[in-house]
Amino acid sequence: MNSKTSSASKIDNHVYKIFPNDLNAKKTVFGGLIMSIADRLAVVVAERHSSQTCVTASVDSWHFVAPAKENDTLLFSVAINKAWGSSMEIGVKVEAENSYEGTKRHIVSAYFTFVALDDEGKTVPVPALVPQNDKEQQRYEAAEVRRQARLTVREQLKKYK
Ligand SMILES: CC(C)(COP(=O)(O)OP(=O)(O)OC[C@H]1O[C@@H](n2cnc3c(N)ncnc32)[C@H](O)[C@@H]1OP(=O)(O)O)[C@@H](O)C(=O)NCCC(=O)NCCS
Repeated sequence: MNSKTSSASKIDNHVYKIFPNDLNAKKTVFGGLIMSIADRLAVVVAERHSSQTCVTASVDSWHFVAPAKENDTLLFSVAINKAWGSSMEIGVKVEAENSYEGTKRHIVSAYFTFVALDDEGKTVPVPALVPQNDKEQQRYEAAEVRRQARLTVREQLKKYK
C-alpha cells in the first residue's frame, strides 16, 4: 500500500463565522458546536488519507484553552499526525480570529482517532504517513506516545468491565 503525506489530506484555516445563535448563556461559543465541526473536518482528513469510510473511535486531550466570543471567526486547522494498522490520529487546532483587529487566539487543541472500515464494517489497513519536515516528524513521534498511552489505559481499565 502506498504511503501518503499529511499535506495530501490536511485542512488549513477552515472558516466558521460566529453568530448570536452559536452562543451559550455566558455569551461565549457553545463548545459542542466546535466539537461537531472539528469531528466533521477530522473525518474528511481521515477519509482523504485512507480512501475508506472512517468512524470516530475516540477523542482525547480535548482542551478549551480560551473562550470564543460573538463576532469572532473560528479557524480550524486539521491534519493527520500518524497512521497505524487501520487507525489514524488526526490533530485539530482551533483559533478565534478578530477580523477587525487582525488578531488570533488559540481556542482548542484535540486529537481524534479514526478507524477505517470496509463495506461490511470490518477494519481495513490504511496507508502509512511519511513526515515531510521537522514539525511533521515531531507530531508523528508525539502521536506514537499518545497511542501507547491510549493502549495502556485501555488495557488497565479492562478489569473494571
Ligand atoms: C472503532 C471500532 C471500529 C474499533 O473496533 P474494534 O473491534 O475495537 O477494533 P480493533 O480492536 O480491531 O481495533 C481496530 C483499530 O482501532 C483502534 N481502536 C479501537 N478502539 C479505539 C479507541 N477507543 N481509541 C483509539 N483507537 C482505538 C485500535 O487500536 C486498532 O488500531 P490499529 O488497527 O491501527 O492497530 C469500534 O469500536 C466501533 O465501531 N466503534 C463505534 C464507532 C462510531 O460509531 N463512532 C461514532 C460515529 S462515526
